[in-house]
Amino acid sequence: MFSFNKNPVGIFDSGVGGLTVFDQVKKVLPGESVFYLGDTARVPYGSKSVDVVKHYSLTNVNLLMALGVKAVVVACNTASAAALSFLQERFPNFNIIGVIEPVVEYLLTRPELKRIGIIGTNTTILSGAYQKALIRGNKDLDISAKACPLFVHLVEEGLFKGEITEMAIDMYLSEMKKNPPDALVLGCTHYPMLRSVISDYFGGKVEILDTAFYTAKKLAGILSENDMVNCVSNENDRFFVTDDPNSFKATAELFLGYKVGNVFHI
Ligand code: DGL
Repeated sequence: MFSFNKNPVGIFDSGVGGLTVFDQVKKVLPGESVFYLGDTARVPYGSKSVDVVKHYSLTNVNLLMALGVKAVVVACNTASAAALSFLQERFPNFNIIGVIEPVVEYLLTRPELKRIGIIGTNTTILSGAYQKALIRGNKDLDISAKACPLFVHLVEEGLFKGEITEMAIDMYLSEMKKNPPDALVLGCTHYPMLRSVISDYFGGKVEILDTAFYTAKKLAGILSENDMVNCVSNENDRFFVTDDPNSFKATAELFLGYKVGNVFHI
C-alpha cells in the first residue's frame, strides 16, 4: 500500500552554517517541511572536544524528536565527525544521517579522483572521520587534510571574498596548492560560501565538492525507501535557536539570500 509521512525533517547544526544543508534539502525535496535547530548558544562546535560535541548533539536530537521530526540530518560536519555513530547507536530505529558519508560515497564512485583534499574545523580534521571513511573505501587514495578555523568567522562576518579572506585562504592552503588535489571537500557547513574564492585560488583546476548537495540526495533516497516522503506538500519550515532569534535571522538571511520567518527561541 502507498504511504507517506507529513512530519517535518529535522536538521541540526551548531548555529547558522547548517543553512547551507537546509538550502540543498529544500531544493532536492521542495515538498518537505523542515525544522531547523541551530545551537547558537553553544556555537562553535569546531573547537570543542569530541565528548562535548556528543553531549550537545544528543540534546539536539532529543529536542528535534520531541518536536515530532521523522528523520534527523546532522548538518554540522563537526557533529557528524564526532557524534554520528554515537547517535545512530543511541537511536537504532530512527533515521539519522550525517554530512560525511554522502560525499565520501560520491567520491568513491569517481576513481579518477585519486588525490583528495579535505578542509574543516579543528575537531573535524583531528577526528580523522573523512580520512578514515575514504581510506575504508579505497586505501590507495592520497589524502591531505587541513583545519581552517578562521573561515567560519570570516563567513559569519559576510566576508565571502576580498583581501582578508584571500590572505586566510593562502595561509591555510598554500602547502596544498604546491601539490594540488584532484578534488577538495568543503568539510564544514560555512565553507560553501567561500566556494568561488577557493576555486579561484586553485586556478579553477580543483573540483570543489560541497557536502550539502550529496547529503540532501541521500536524505531523499532514505525517505523514499522508507515510504516517508511528504506527498501533500504542507510546507511549514521553522527555525529553532538556543540564543537570540534576531541575530540568527540576520545571519540566516545573509546565508540564504531571502527573508526568513518563523524563528523561535527554544
Ligand atoms: N557547523 C560547524 C561545522 O560544520 C562549523 C561551525 C562550528 O565550529 O560550530 O563543522
